[in-house]
Amino acid sequence: MEIGKKVAGEKAATLIEDGMVVGLGTGSTALYFIQALIDKKLRIKTVASSKRSEEIAKKGGLHVLDINEVTHIDLTVDGTDEIDPQKRLIKGGGGAHTREKILASSSQEMIVIADESKVVKHLGKAKLPIEILSYGHIFARKKIEALGYVGSWRVSDATSLNQELYVTDNGNFILDIHFPALLTHPEEVHTKILAIPGVVDTGFFFNIAKRAIIGRSNGTTFNI
Ligand code: 5RP
Repeated sequence: MEIGKKVAGEKAATLIEDGMVVGLGTGSTALYFIQALIDKKLRIKTVASSKRSEEIAKKGGLHVLDINEVTHIDLTVDGTDEIDPQKRLIKGGGGAHTREKILASSSQEMIVIADESKVVKHLGKAKLPIEILSYGHIFARKKIEALGYVGSWRVSDATSLNQELYVTDNGNFILDIHFPALLTHPEEVHTKILAIPGVVDTGFFFNIAKRAIIGRSNGTTFNI
């Protein structure tokens, strides 16, 4: 799995040229991409989708700008938790899907990078993260569960006895939904959940990724 992530990240980095403004994703696969950019010592500007990616990029010497400081983003490269043949995604395993979606949809192009374990025929095996405002989050969860979806709050450290809720970079909570069966119409699920007051965004990405670079454990890649 690790080799697949690395080769996908490194392949995506070959597409980056001097002068570009590049969106940096979040997660272990995105980190391989960020590291490859650091190693290439390009003259680029970047925008990060999370505090974690920003920290790593800055430490490596990349020029990181706030998203509100740029007027154009050439390309965003990010990982995913699932990708189907239509390049619909479930993201947010790292709790950053809202910023990731803003960044990717504000970019001229988004490229997904992943190892082959993330490729699915139908979305829904992975949990769907839903970012929810802390104000009224218990009511929001009840409304989501009244629609028939079962969720659990993400905690910051699942191994700790003192289980505090995970807080996103935006100061919100995450409810992870578990689906009983694979999804045939994920768009309907997204629309219903997003209509609930207090829901900031779901981890579904539709019509955002134009290309995906998938890394195999033998070190080769293929595109979706
Ligand atoms: C973070 C994400 C990540 O891209 C997704 O969870 C995949 O992570 P990894 O590359 O570590 O498997 O959406 O919010």
